[in-house]
Amino acid sequence: MIVYTDSTDKPRPDQLRGFFAGWPDPPSPQTHLDLLRASDHAILAIDDTTGHVVGFITAITDRLMFAYIPLLEVLPGHRGQGIGHELTRRMIEKLKGLYSIDLICDPELKPFYEKLGMKACVGMTLKDYRRQSGIGRHK
Ligand SMILES: CC(C)(COP(=O)(O)OP(=O)(O)OC[C@H]1O[C@@H](n2cnc3c(N)ncnc32)[C@H](O)[C@@H]1OP(=O)(O)O)[C@@H](O)C(=O)NCCC(=O)NCCS
Repeated sequence: MIVYTDSTDKPRPDQLRGFFAGWPDPPSPQTHLDLLRASDHAILAIDDTTGHVVGFITAITDRLMFAYIPLLEVLPGHRGQGIGHELTRRMIEKLKGLYSIDLICDPELKPFYEKLGMKACVGMTLKDYRRQSGIGRHK
């Protein structure tokens, strides 16, 4: 069974393996765990038989008006079962009351987010790919 939690105390780094699929220089499981704990909000989907994290979402927010959702991912073997929708629904619920919840996604994910009440708009980004693994992060 999949259980959802906003506690990031329990998972060990080895229970976070398999994420950042397709990233050329992915964060390590330890950096992933650090990132979850440093986020203002994180929700995990956990396979309760193994304790392995199969999906997660993070948000950063000023707690007054704006929140940004940098990461949402479900492990490839667990996709198409509603886990991504449920993680995002729970995060939007958590952020309720703010003026704006923003994220950037590929165009093909527009229908996925529209089902959650979001609307498309133009986004801009500035990326330093030398920092993709999270090494040398800003303090
Ligand atoms: C996007 C993602 C989180 C969805 O998780 P999931 O658990 O499979 O999602 P759900 O089962 O709740 O919903 C699946 C729906 O999303 C659609 N969807 C998911 N990924 C899609 C993609 N890449 N292109 C088009 N549609 C996609 C499915 O077709 C399905 O639509 P349906 O409800 O009409 O059948 C998952 O595919 C993933 O981790 N992708 C890689 C990372 C990523 O792109 N994250 C989003 C960052 S903005």
